[in-house]
Amino acid sequence: MRDIQNILVQIAAELETETERGKVANYIPPLAKIDPRKFGIAVVTVDGQSFLAGNAYEPFSIQSISKVFTLTLALGRIGDQLWERVGREPSGSAFNSIVQLESERGVPRNPFINAGAIVLSDIILAGHKPKEALGEILRFVRDVAGDDAIYVDDNVARAEAATGYRNIALANYMRAFGNVHNPVELALGVYFHQCAIAMSCHQLAQAGLFLAARGTNPGTGRSVTSAARTRRINALMLTCGHYDGSGEFAFRVGLPAKSGVGGGILGIVPGCASIAVWSPGLNNRGNSLLGTLALERLAHRTGWSVFDSTPTV
Ligand code: DON
Repeated sequence: MRDIQNILVQIAAELETETERGKVANYIPPLAKIDPRKFGIAVVTVDGQSFLAGNAYEPFSIQSISKVFTLTLALGRIGDQLWERVGREPSGSAFNSIVQLESERGVPRNPFINAGAIVLSDIILAGHKPKEALGEILRFVRDVAGDDAIYVDDNVARAEAATGYRNIALANYMRAFGNVHNPVELALGVYFHQCAIAMSCHQLAQAGLFLAARGTNPGTGRSVTSAARTRRINALMLTCGHYDGSGEFAFRVGLPAKSGVGGGILGIVPGCASIAVWSPGLNNRGNSLLGTLALERLAHRTGWSVFDSTPTV
């Protein structure tokens, strides 16, 4: 068990001297100001141990990683009907692409591209005021993480609302096909705020642990979602969690994972552990450059992979 701690410390030390760190997202102005030298990593195991290195307690903008939590919530809300409104195929396109939406009549390829996640927000919003829907998302994330200090960074949400022209276009386009039911500004308000949730690596790894434990929070023993749904969420993370970089990520790391343009990645080792890593610089697909490298090294050194025999701690 000491090994995991040593591996994390070693990876953090190795990556500290990397000069090629990718580009910090600059299309959301507050994210452009984040120091690209930040690096944090956390591993939380299903038997309750935590291993941390680097800036693992510093909150960052989880951005698209929030889509894992809203997918779990939206499935809880409407079950398999969700798949009438969102597909389950990798898109092979950028996370904010609009091209497939016309030929596919407003049904996004999967829940993790922006269009798919806006539909999830619309589902969670149904029958609620935007504040209530956002409150429900935040409560859910705090509950699975077991940490009430998790918050929404309003500055990031406001900046994205002011500059999110592509998302506004995606939402309007889907509304034209009848796949956004609420007024677009309300669905987008929920979406921008959920993306602006700030969490540390430690909090994020805690929050993802139910996905490593057949849908049950190992800390509280409470069921978050069913084991069958957990398998499917993990399958979507593996096939779609890194957009047009999902194949490459599966090839290099071999674990279900979801990235965000804040530079975070949540990775799941089913039956074993939840991992969160943060390095703000992104590769050309919008996924954390060093975060991916860190997960590749961690997976390699621990032997963790869903394509291998049962992972052990
Ligand atoms: O909607 C956006 O563009 C951002 N709030 C989230 C995008 C994102 O994190 C994509 N991840 N790599």
